Amino acid sequence: MAVWSPHTWRSLPAQQMPEWPDAGELARVLEELRELPPLVFAGEARRLRSELGRVARGEAFLLQAGDCAESFDELSADSIRDKLKIVLQMAVVLTYAAGLPVIKVGRIAGQFAKPRSSPVERVGDTALPTFRGHAVNDVMFDPEARRADPRRLLRAYHHAASTLNLIRAFTTGGFADLRQIHNWNQEFVAASPQGRRYEALATQIDRAIAFMQACGVDLSEDSPLHSVDLYTSHEALLLAFEEALTRRDSLTGRWYDCSAHLLWVGERTRQPDGAHVEFLSGIENPVAAKLGPAATPADVLALCDRLNPGNEPGRLTLIARMGAALVADRLPPLIEAALREGRQVVWVCDPMHGNTFTTPGGLKSRRFADIVAEIRGFFAVCRECGAVPGGVHLELTDRDVTECLGGSHEVSDDHLTQRYQALCDPRLNARQSLDLAFELAEMLGSG
Ligand code: PEP
Ligand code: CO
Repeated sequence: MAVWSPHTWRSLPAQQMPEWPDAGELARVLEELRELPPLVFAGEARRLRSELGRVARGEAFLLQAGDCAESFDELSADSIRDKLKIVLQMAVVLTYAAGLPVIKVGRIAGQFAKPRSSPVERVGDTALPTFRGHAVNDVMFDPEARRADPRRLLRAYHHAASTLNLIRAFTTGGFADLRQIHNWNQEFVAASPQGRRYEALATQIDRAIAFMQACGVDLSEDSPLHSVDLYTSHEALLLAFEEALTRRDSLTGRWYDCSAHLLWVGERTRQPDGAHVEFLSGIENPVAAKLGPAATPADVLALCDRLNPGNEPGRLTLIARMGAALVADRLPPLIEAALREGRQVVWVCDPMHGNTFTTPGGLKSRRFADIVAEIRGFFAVCRECGAVPGGVHLELTDRDVTECLGGSHEVSDDHLTQRYQALCDPRLNARQSLDLAFELAEMLGSG
């Protein structure tokens, strides 16, 4: 078998790669990226891999969440703080309900590249290259904006670095106090008659915190409970970028992709003999693959062979995104195949990407009810098959957008155009996200 190196993907077919008009500029940019410091460190990726091993054994729950596509135009401290805030608020609810630690992974600090269903977008008689994420081009329908510009890869690196810098400051510097997070949740619960549905659960969490304090558990600044971990993740789509950030760990001599802690391949790039899977097969980070409704048991086993030949729990996460209507039908054969063959997999539910539809007005949307229904279906399938439901993978934002329909504060069809700000896929807004956390808590509690 050929020996893996960070560039062996180059000899294999690669889907979804942008065409860079200026090859010389691309080469210069990649050279520069190779010289820049790592964004994350091998030891951190190893820690996440072992935390995901706990998820595989049912000893922890994974919450992976963030934007579908991050934007270069959003880099304020407030916006990063608020993204963190919503994930932490959800995690507190889930921790209490599951009675397990919640491993928090953001689609953040690097989620700048998008696979697309069509390479061109047509408006009237004009056809332009499709928008592929801010690491490649810009969203405006304009020939200059849509040109793939390699210098954007450098901007992606620097955006990720600034974002990570703030995340590290917020997660260790006193922002993430358990009591504070719980207070925010109580504000959400009190803010509307619908939120009050969750009052009983919020009160129970309140009592649990009071109990901890009464027992002498230290919730103050310097306690470990005060700081949290938020790991980073993104789709490993632009392999030249990922290659340039792949470094040999000085401690172990192994290769790590230091652009994020966890990397995944999407539904469109998960071919077992393709370039993207080849790239992920040689890095030591924890890795994941999306599985849509067309995935077969043979695909699952081939991905396990390629990405987790050592069969180690926590190395490979498979993220099912079947759609609410198909999950009960399509997921069981995949889980059964892995169980039958004794393959270690962390099973996660992405209830977003199988439930997207286009409104009559031409906007992409998703229904809150479908999202909840797919998660419910996922839990039921895991229970029936005897697999561990490892976690959820969500697209959400802290902002008050109107992109997904429904939820307790009811975003209706007419609202969609009011604050539709998605660069790519529609996201849950802050209220819908908390709503979902409480719905999930009820599922976990009754499991
Ligand atoms: C995504 O996660 O934004 C995405 C494109 O997902 P999928 O590969 O599952 O379609
Ligand atoms: Co998406």
